[in-house]
Amino acid sequence: MKKLVNKVAVITGATSGMALATAKLFVAEGAHVFITGRRQKELDEAVAAIGSNVTGVVGDSANLADLDRLFETVKAEKGHIDVLYASAGMGEFAPLGQVTEESFDKMFDLNAKGTFFTIQKALPLLRDNGSIIMTGTIATIKGMENLSVYGASKAGLLVYAKVWTNELKARGIRVNVLSPGPIDTSVFVGREDMKTFMASHIPMGRIGRPEEIATTALFLASNDSSFITGSEICVDGGMAQV
Ligand SMILES: NC(=O)c1ccc[n+]([C@@H]2O[C@H](COP(=O)([O-])OP(=O)(O)OC[C@H]3O[C@@H](n4cnc5c(N)ncnc54)[C@H](OP(=O)(O)O)[C@@H]3O)[C@@H](O)[C@H]2O)c1
Repeated sequence: MKKLVNKVAVITGATSGMALATAKLFVAEGAHVFITGRRQKELDEAVAAIGSNVTGVVGDSANLADLDRLFETVKAEKGHIDVLYASAGMGEFAPLGQVTEESFDKMFDLNAKGTFFTIQKALPLLRDNGSIIMTGTIATIKGMENLSVYGASKAGLLVYAKVWTNELKARGIRVNVLSPGPIDTSVFVGREDMKTFMASHIPMGRIGRPEEIATTALFLASNDSSFITGSEICVDGGMAQV
């Protein structure tokens, strides 16, 4: 039986990579999915690739007016949200001595602030017993060189999940963080050297596939994870676990 029949899902930053794979799976499992991204052409292509039961809304998750427009569209089209997956995020990698203020602000604006206001602004539309998922990273666990600002900007999501689990428990809304290890998306395009390097640090001996994030997101979105909230689930081939 399909796991998201008649559910409404919103997935930010979903024109490529893991979130696009997730949008495809959610639709295959019976959901109507709203996806976002900043570039109209890529958004249109993603909507076409998903094919049906999908609405594309162009917007920047770091821009609060864009978030308002996203949820106005969701409200007008469907009236509510069952699953909110805040996945839009970005990273720039540099050692302590070379991080600029601009780069620091960009990461915190999208990863920490944008994710916060995505959830806040969706809240009036979120149905009781809904599921909130945020994309973290194992860079919050491993002291990976060059990732101090990126990891710090995502670490706040773990706190959000714990606090909001308490704040939203009366409504049965679950809040979890899905933290990928290295996954084969745009980050690794043309970077075979980087893939090989990463794989050598992963017990399973390879980097992950976007579809392996999608199946975990489906688990967190559906009733299969009905007793899981306030948690972080790492999908990392064991990289940050052993
Ligand atoms: N790949 C990895 O190894 C890895 C590991 C751990 C965590 N993550 C996290 O996983 C998430 C997705 O990564 P990915 O590798 O799948 O990415 P990806 O393939 O590069 O896709 C990123 C998506 O987000 C959109 N996006 C970027 N900035 C946005 C913004 N400000 N507002 C709205 N949409 C935005 C992009 O479209 P536009 O450019 O058109 O906006 C695109 O649809 C991110 O949060 C990332 O930090 C990735």
